[in-house]
Amino acid sequence: MSILITGATGYIGSHVCIELLSSGFDIVLIDNFSNSSEDVLDKIKSITNESFSFYRVDLLDIQDLRRVFNENNIQGVIHLAAYKAVGESVSNPLKYYFNNVYGLLNLLTVMEEYELRNMVFSSSATVYGKNISPLTENMTPSTNNPYGNTKLFCEQILKELHISNNDWSIVILRYFNPIGAHESGKIGERPLGIPNNIMPVIVQVATGKLQKLLIFGGDYDTKDGTCVRDYIHVVDLAKGHIKALEKTLNSKGLEIYNLGTGKGYSVLELVNVFENISNINIPYEIADRRAGDVDICFAEPSKANKELNWVAEKNLDEMCIDTWRWVCNSL
Ligand code: UFG
Repeated sequence: MSILITGATGYIGSHVCIELLSSGFDIVLIDNFSNSSEDVLDKIKSITNESFSFYRVDLLDIQDLRRVFNENNIQGVIHLAAYKAVGESVSNPLKYYFNNVYGLLNLLTVMEEYELRNMVFSSSATVYGKNISPLTENMTPSTNNPYGNTKLFCEQILKELHISNNDWSIVILRYFNPIGAHESGKIGERPLGIPNNIMPVIVQVATGKLQKLLIFGGDYDTKDGTCVRDYIHVVDLAKGHIKALEKTLNSKGLEIYNLGTGKGYSVLELVNVFENISNINIPYEIADRRAGDVDICFAEPSKANKELNWVAEKNLDEMCIDTWRWVCNSL
């Protein structure tokens, strides 16, 4: 019996695979390498000393997907594969709806064919829109960009599927801002192309690829005027998936959980911690606000703490230490 992971070689997927292998699961990985590289597979092997199957599959190709289910005895699915750049989703919405929504529909269709009805789904705190932090799972969601809408539509599809057949067991995880890297220093975040998220940009400034960090907005109603986010160590996030998977394997129903620390840090605080850890000065300039950014976004994580018996353990120092180790190793 195996667990299928889609988007398995991505930043979050690779850390989830390591936690699954370390917890004794047999796993089948799929990815189309749209934002990751093949060498991640060797890294996962070398960190865990475990073997696994890998298929280069695009979720939009339902025949290829059927082959994976045909050749393996899949017991549960962790669905991570999706595009995630907000700006790109605004300029190319069809790309986002096709990949994120159609990809999920294909996957669910094949799962129904095989009568396999367990899924952990990767959603995002972006679905909280302008709700006031701390954000709780029962707040009414709203988004203002196509990427966020794909996550919201996917959540809705899963809810309706569960209503249609209560044999489904689904856990939706709403991620806050994952940063950090595996403590081995062998895997971490390596976006292809120009990074959008703050940590890869800070890293590019630290390594001289970018001259300075543009901080989007210095006049928000926060302690220092810059936006506040709930940064969570990617390994804590990955461990949350194991707890969520166990829940889907052991019970029926649909639940939504925030995966965050419950603490918010400003952009400037993050930059300061990174500078202290790396001993490198990060030049920055306060620039215009970025469209779509909310001032403050942090989780109320107590539902996941109580019901999944999961808690984010690593602090911002550890997130920066592990990021920096990975960056230095991969230079
Ligand atoms: N930021 C900068 N300069 C940059 C990049 C980011 O100042 O070059 C700022 C942003 O304005 C924001 C903060 O850093 O205030 C964090 O930005 P990220 O792009 O790293 O993260 P977001 O909070 O915008 O979005 C992330 C994910 C989304 C997810 C969301 C949930 O990218 O997919 O968290 O809160 F939906």
